[in-house]
Formats: sequence, structure tokens, C-alpha cells
Amino acid sequence: MSANQTPPTATPDAVKDAAFLKACRRDPVPHTPVWFMRQAGRSLPEYRKVREGIPMLESCMRPELVTEITLQPVRRHNVDAAIYFSDIVVPLKAIGIDLDIKPGVGPVVENPIRTRADLAQLRDLTPEDVSYVTEAIGLLTRELGATPLIGFAGAPFTLASYLVEGGPSRTYENAKAMMYGDPELWADLLDRLADITAAFLKVQIEAGASAVQLFDSWVGSLAPADYRRSVMPHSAKVFQAVAEYGVPRIHFGVGTGELLKLMGEAGADVVGVDWRVPLDEAARRVGPGKALQGNLDPTVLFATPEVIETKTREVLDAAAGLEGHVFNLGHGVMPSTDPDALTRLVEYVHTQTAR
Ligand code: CP3
Repeated sequence: MSANQTPPTATPDAVKDAAFLKACRRDPVPHTPVWFMRQAGRSLPEYRKVREGIPMLESCMRPELVTEITLQPVRRHNVDAAIYFSDIVVPLKAIGIDLDIKPGVGPVVENPIRTRADLAQLRDLTPEDVSYVTEAIGLLTRELGATPLIGFAGAPFTLASYLVEGGPSRTYENAKAMMYGDPELWADLLDRLADITAAFLKVQIEAGASAVQLFDSWVGSLAPADYRRSVMPHSAKVFQAVAEYGVPRIHFGVGTGELLKLMGEAGADVVGVDWRVPLDEAARRVGPGKALQGNLDPTVLFATPEVIETKTREVLDAAAGLEGHVFNLGHGVMPSTDPDALTRLVEYVHTQTAR
């Protein structure tokens, strides 16, 4: 696309001045914006009620249900952004991979990808494959008004971890064995996943998502040199593919203290930080020109209100000198979290940071 063409985003004008987008752009904010990874989902009784009897993947394909679930935490907690209700394996299901999300387990893949012949399972994703996403985001942006909607996808490494292992893993032994032992097959697998992920993010941005987050949840299992060589180029391809839209790109993983700089360099505008590295130290590692997102330990929400405030204050103090800060947990909301603790946390961050 040439420079004088308007990028084909559908970001509504009403959201452009939202605190969340300002913080991502490192502009001055009226208050520190807050949202929570996994805010839509199992911690909410109203979520469990509407999901009753509907399998997870099926619920992701029903636009009215997706809209309702995405809106629930916005209504309840007054968060500064909505995250689109879906799952990282939805685009893989959409191109015909035989997989399911098993309750209490996570994504399970029927025929794991272990050989070159298995790559034939992966074809390109077209907007028609996920027409329910376009429809749901259309409904959502109308309902959300001035609240931004975050689109998301799984990063190539984290998707590969499920596809190669066949399900959740603690060690990623098959995926990492492929990465170390057959780098060509690994590169071809991640390259295809990068194309699928980029196509899926484009669908969401063109439908109206005003920011995107790339979840590389499990990449913290890699040493920096291996990340740089075998993963970063593929994640960079995803970020590059959506750069022209100009929407903020967030990059998040767990246990990534040693990777934060590289994860920023991969092409993120905002680097997500888990609770293991304080935000001031994370900012030194990431370097200038990026906002940070995080990073209250999600288990802090099981402590008393006083402890929650003290620990939140520590996060805000560490974030005081940042160029841009989006408050979040260091990983997703745990299912048994008291929803009222989340509501109080949003209120606390907003009042403590009001300028
Ligand atoms: O953040 C949100 O509120 C939006 C919804 C969302 C879901 N999954 C819904 C979901 C998002 C952003 C995801 C991303 C996702 N999915 C990630 C990256 C984020 C992270 O936590 O690191 C990963 C690794 C997955 C894979 C996955 N899907 C797991 C590990 C699980 C949990 C398994 C379990 O039950 O313990 C899922 C299922 C899933 N995704 C649920 C929800 C609400 C639970 C499904 C149910 O209700 O049974």
C-alpha cells in the first residue's frame, strides 16, 4: 500500500482518544488504563450461565454470544478495554485442524504435527473461514461505543507448542526437539503459522479491533539465543504484516524476563510483562520507545483488600517513570478469583492515578 492511502482500519472515531490507546501510544493519559487478560470468562457467574451446555469452541462461533461475553467484564468492572472473546486455537480450527478445547485441560490436537507430511494440515486462512469474527466485531464495536476492543492471536511458537505436543505441556519436549533437531521443518511450520496468525489479526483489525495482542504465552521456556534464531523472525513477520494499520501491537509471554528486549524488537509497541520482573527494571531491559503492560501477580487477588492495595501500589510506583503504562495482571485472571476484587482493583488504579 502506498503512503498516501488511508489504512483500511475500522477503528471507530469515538475510541481514538480512549486512555488505553493513549497509553499504548505513550501519550499523556487522564488515568492509568486497566484491563485484565482472561477478563471474559470463568471468574464471572454471568459467563458460566450463558455458556451452560455450549462447548467452548462452539461458543466462539456464535456472534451474539461472543458479543455478550466480551461485554460482561466491561459492564461489571469498568475496565478501559474489552478483549474479544475467542481462543488462540480458533483460527486453527477454522482451517480444518482436528482439535478441541477440553474443559479443565485446554486445547487438544487429534493428529499432532511431527513430520513434514503433517504440514499439509495447515492451509491459509481466509476471512470467509472466520466470518463469525467479522460479524461479532461489528456487533461489538456498536455496543462498546468509546471503549476500545482488543483483538488477539496466538504467536507462532505458542501455537506450535500445542500443534506439535498435541496438547498442553510443561516441557514442550517434542516442539523444542523439532526446533533443535530439524530447524528447516520448524521454520516452515512457524512461517505457516505466522501467515495464519497475521491473516486472523487482519480480519479483526479490519472489522474494528483498535489494538491487537500477540500471546506468546509459553515462549519463556526458550533461551534468548534460541528465541532470536528460531522464533523471533516469525513473530516479527506477524507484527510487520499488521504494521500498516497503525493500531497498537502488544506482545505478551509468561516467564519472559530474559526475552523482554527481543520481544519488543520483534515489532511490538507495548511489551507485556509478567509479575517476575518489576516494571522499572522491565523498562530498562526493553529500552526506550515502548509502552509496558502489567504486572500484578494474579494470585495477589486471593489476599485481603489491604494486601491487594499494597501490592498494586508497588506496581504503580514501579511504573511511575514509564513512557506509557497499561495496568494488567502478570497473566490471566484465575477462574476462582472473586470478581468483586477485580472491580475494586480497577477503581483503585483509576483513583490512584487520576491526573
Ligand atoms: O482474555 C479473555 O478474556 C479473552 C478470552 C481468551 C480465552 N483464551 C478464552 C478461554 C483468551 C485471550 C485466550 C487466550 C489463550 N488460550 C491463551 C493465551 C493466554 C494465556 O492464558 O496465556 C492460551 C495459552 C490459550 C489456550 C487455552 N484455552 C487454555 C490454556 C485454556 C484453559 C484450559 C482450562 O480449562 O483450564 C483454554 C480454554 C479457554 N479459553 C477458556 C476460556 C474462557 C475456558 C473454557 C471453558 O469455559 O471451559
